[in-house]
Amino acid sequence: MAHFDDKAKPFSNKWMDERLAVNTLNRVLATEYWIPKNINFLWAMGMVLAVTFALLTISGIFLLMYYKPDVNLAFDSVNYTIMAEVGYGWLWRHIHGVAASAVFLIIYIHMFTGIYYGSYKKGREMIWITGMLLFVTFSAEAFSGYMLPWGQMSYWAGMVITNLFEGFSPDLAGGMLNAPGLVEWIRGDFVPGDAYLTRFFMLHVLLLPLVIMALIGLHFGALRIPHVNNQDGEEIDFDAESKKYLAGDTQGSKVIRFQWDFLSKDIFVLGVFLIFFFYLTFYHYSFALDPVNFDPADGLKTPAHIYPEWYFLWSYEILRPFPKDPGLVAFAFAQVAFFLLPFLDRSPNVAPANRRGLFAIWFWVLLIDMIVLTVMGKLPPEGIYNVIGAVAAWTFLILFALLPIITMLEKKK
Ligand code: HEM
Repeated sequence: MAHFDDKAKPFSNKWMDERLAVNTLNRVLATEYWIPKNINFLWAMGMVLAVTFALLTISGIFLLMYYKPDVNLAFDSVNYTIMAEVGYGWLWRHIHGVAASAVFLIIYIHMFTGIYYGSYKKGREMIWITGMLLFVTFSAEAFSGYMLPWGQMSYWAGMVITNLFEGFSPDLAGGMLNAPGLVEWIRGDFVPGDAYLTRFFMLHVLLLPLVIMALIGLHFGALRIPHVNNQDGEEIDFDAESKKYLAGDTQGSKVIRFQWDFLSKDIFVLGVFLIFFFYLTFYHYSFALDPVNFDPADGLKTPAHIYPEWYFLWSYEILRPFPKDPGLVAFAFAQVAFFLLPFLDRSPNVAPANRRGLFAIWFWVLLIDMIVLTVMGKLPPEGIYNVIGAVAAWTFLILFALLPIITMLEKKK
């Protein structure tokens, strides 16, 4: 049995430390968790994401108190009960809707920061992969949440996306790549209906949030050994630098403590984000709520244009310009491409993109291309929009095919 001090007062620091090792935990996770000095505000995005997820969870719990997962009641429970009857129900809904959009904006900034600085390279692959798993799970979380108000867009976007699970045409490869019955199995019916709504409700409020929490834990764990990257891609000897810091040479050391040195900066960036966030929540929430979704779901009335929320538009636009089968291949490629980034990038150089020759061009073209895809995804697929969309989709595919070649040609740092 471990040693316990009889004189330690219950719940005093010593008493707690003897039982739960709180001081060791605090040291390992906070005061002696070392962060490089040369990083900028973009490294606060991870913390902003964690807090936005907390906002989504808290607002979601309040919405859950009045939401009814039933095709006959869902629409009114959201648009009438929560929005008009329950005190401040509108506020929780606006917070939830704006946070769902904001979380994707920040995820994209966080991902592109990682790509720009090469933070997915040797030693940090698992940070990247757990991050991508978070991206996919957040996408499923957003999609399942979008079904819940049971408006026209919930219904029809649900129809379009679940149809993708039909697989390839039955006449391709002797029907081996076709999945008969899978769409009905996912829906629990021939069309989205009550079984469909209740299972997406379960996914949205239980299973997917649990998976997200576990993945956030894994993502943080994956950061522990390689530590975060820095603006110069410098390989820092964290043991030596932290010893220097602890010996009193805080100026000369290349690292700082997570708590409170770095955390105070994180909190500052978080403050700026929250001002922006609540400004949107109170004054510009409508961008996060599609007007078509204020009409109740009607399986007999197809809306003129069916499009997903803005954060899915780039991948939707990779699917749309192609015929069914090549479209599915392009779409699947786009989903997998980002996962494979640490392996497609063949250069060992960890450095900001502007110091990596051709990679800098690759990076900026990719970013602009994804913005073009997003804009085209929202516009109707006609005339010139069709042409621009197809060019942008091909550009995306070619960029990822070229990446191994470009990075192999890159000179060693
Ligand atoms: C909601 C989900 C996420 C949370 C809460 C989260 C949280 C964090 C935190 C706290 C950090 C350390 C500080 C920082 O660099 O910001 C971090 C780093 C990182 N994250 Fe995420 N992250 C999330 C999603 C993602 C996604 C979608 C990706 C992309 C695939 C990703 C890739 C990375 C990478 C590569 C790093 C290392 C950065 C470096 O070494 O400089 N994360 N994340």
